[in-house]
Amino acid sequence: MNTEHSSHKQALFSRILITGGMGFFGWNAANHFRRQGLTPIISSSSLARYSAQAGETPVYLNILDRISIEACLRQYAPTVILHAAAFSAPLACEKDPALAHEVNVVGTQNMIALAAEFDIPFVFISTDLVFNGEKDVLQSGFYTEADTPDADIVYGKTKIAAERCIQEQVFGKWIILRSALMFGRRVEWANGFPQFAVDLLKSGKPTTLFTDQFRTPAYIPDIAEAMICLLRDGRFGEVYHCGGAERIDRVSFVQRYCAVASVDISNINACIMDDVPNYTTKVRDVSLSNEKLLRNTTYISWQVTPFETAFREMLL
Ligand SMILES: NC(=O)c1ccc[n+]([C@@H]2O[C@H](COP(=O)([O-])OP(=O)(O)OC[C@H]3O[C@@H](n4cnc5c(N)ncnc54)[C@H](OP(=O)(O)O)[C@@H]3O)[C@@H](O)[C@H]2O)c1
Repeated sequence: MNTEHSSHKQALFSRILITGGMGFFGWNAANHFRRQGLTPIISSSSLARYSAQAGETPVYLNILDRISIEACLRQYAPTVILHAAAFSAPLACEKDPALAHEVNVVGTQNMIALAAEFDIPFVFISTDLVFNGEKDVLQSGFYTEADTPDADIVYGKTKIAAERCIQEQVFGKWIILRSALMFGRRVEWANGFPQFAVDLLKSGKPTTLFTDQFRTPAYIPDIAEAMICLLRDGRFGEVYHCGGAERIDRVSFVQRYCAVASVDISNINACIMDDVPNYTTKVRDVSLSNEKLLRNTTYISWQVTPFETAFREMLL
């Protein structure tokens, strides 16, 4: 690839509008894009919440208000839309399925419709929780893009419906990136992993974590990089899985992080999901296979960061 061609490609994807840009994923992804010389346009539907603490004024965009989306697209002329805004807490979605549908499905419908109208490449952040977690992944292999989404929980069902809205579009410039439990640097105003567990441990309170819930936790800069690699390779119209370096249960993951961060783990209350009364979002094992992503990123091969390397970077 010659330099002229490569900088042309870079320019094509230089101005990335992030919905949910002040969320845990959005904020970490924006910082990664800045480090790559790209320009994130951070949007939020609740500007007043952040002005004081974030030191950054996001632009207003409410995914449920098409006028605000259109105004944002006209004013900031993004070259890519990264749609990460969501009602993303599984337990809260279970309690308010109507709101979950509104934000996750209707909001996504609005975003993809306007991306199509303005002809802007569109990347949707989906989740490993589109699967019910009952596959025997050790016997049959991690979840691949060929597995049929079969979530039992409201959050997963709304993300499946959102994916379908995108896939049904005639507009072909979309990518669906299904990721796993995300981890990254602390975002002071957003709930993040593993910080919520670390904060509980430091407070001396018992910290309940499951030994029987397996994921492939994904480092947010790796997810952001996967998006750049796929865009550069023009891999539109497909679903890709983007998991992390290893399959691991929550207790072991937090223990590994705490070993690097020198946090005392004696308050971990390791238990199984059935031990917690009324825990309605039991999902056993949704480990994702990265095979397709690795096969399809040829311009710059995507790489996954080992957990300990990521932890050390997060603590810098
Ligand atoms: N965290 C994970 O482990 C994980 C794993 C797999 C996939 N995902 C997916 O990754 C994405 C980001 O997740 P996250 O953990 O960063 O969640 P988050 O911290 O809750 O961020 C989501 C953001 O969506 C925004 N939002 C909600 N309603 C909106 C609306 N009507 N209009 C515009 N923005 C709205 C909120 O920001 P404002 O209040 O500022 O508008 C919120 O900060 C989601 O799509 C989620 O499904 C997350």
